[in-house]
Parts: sequence; structure tokens; C-alpha cells
Amino acid sequence: MEKFIPVVVIKELAETDRILTALKNNNIHCAEITFRTACAAEAIAYAAQHYPDMKIGAGTVINAAQCETALAAGATFIVSPGLSPAVAEICNARGIPYYPGCVTPTEIMAALELGITTVKFFPANIYGGLKALKALSAPFPQVKFIPTGGVDRSNIDEFLAFDKVSAIGGSFFVKEALEKMEADK
Ligand code: 3PG
Repeated sequence: MEKFIPVVVIKELAETDRILTALKNNNIHCAEITFRTACAAEAIAYAAQHYPDMKIGAGTVINAAQCETALAAGATFIVSPGLSPAVAEICNARGIPYYPGCVTPTEIMAALELGITTVKFFPANIYGGLKALKALSAPFPQVKFIPTGGVDRSNIDEFLAFDKVSAIGGSFFVKEALEKMEADK
């Protein structure tokens, strides 16, 4: 799996090239395109077709219908802010990685029961950050985390240094990449 998962919000389809090119130029070959805007599915389909060398996934997938739409558009991984057993079931059946948001022991146990061992830890800063991840890793040594939400340059390294962190998610990757692209003009 990719180490950095940019959380991408595409307001208009026309922005897709600019954002994905900026990420690629910044050596990030992955994008979690979120279902927070009307053109999310279209943007995923466009990205999957025009950026075959990037891992294009769908984020903010909160129900089975959105999951089906995302997969039909070509998403190769699915992320949710919480855990949806219906989404997990679809992803399991299709062999698609699913990263549900889990921050409590009960949520992590529910994920494990669905065969999921890598979860999104969201919002990471609000739910205790690295300290919480370390505490949760004691009873769940088999679980890997993707801290997301409030992660940025100031704290990314401390998360990355913990071996139970398999990747980092965040919108700051997009912000950084776009800023760099502007500065390089
Ligand atoms: C998400 O849905 O993963 C978050 O909006 C990302 O949080 P961030 O903007 O703090 O990175």
C-alpha cells in the first residue's frame, strides 16, 4: 500500500488534472477522491482512465450505494470515516482493500470480525493522536493504522516512526503539492 494517501476534494471535474499532476510532481502516486462533492464519481472515473500509473481510490464512502458507484467508476480502494459492514461486505467480495475509520476498541473489534486489519484512525488529532494509537496497539498488535485528520508536516514524522502506522492520510498533501506547483511556475 502507498505510504501517503492524499484526501482529495474535487469541486469541479476540470480541477482533476491540476490536482493529480501536482501530486505526481510531488512524487505522490495515490489519491483518495472523496464523495463530498457531486462530481466525485466522475472524477474517479476520469482519474482512473487518465492516470493509470496512480492508485485511485474513493473516500468518504458511507454506504453500499456509494461504494458500488465508486467501484464502477474504477476506484481500487475504499475509505470511510467510520465502519460500514455493508461496504466491507462489497469490498471483501471483490477483493478491494477497505479502510474504515475506527477509533475505539469496539470499532476495531468490529473491523477484525469483518477480516479488516488496517483501519483509518480519524480524526487522529481529536481521538488522542499517537498516544492513543500506541495504547490501542497493545491489545491489537495485528492492527495497522492510517492516521488521518489533523496530520501535517509538524507531526507526520512522529506518526511515521511508529511501526503500526502503515500510511498517513491527509488533505495537506494536496495543499502542499498545489503550493509547490504554484511556486515552481
Ligand atoms: C478526511 O476525511 O480524511 C479528513 O478530512 C482529512 O483531514 P485533514 O483535512 O485534517 O487532513
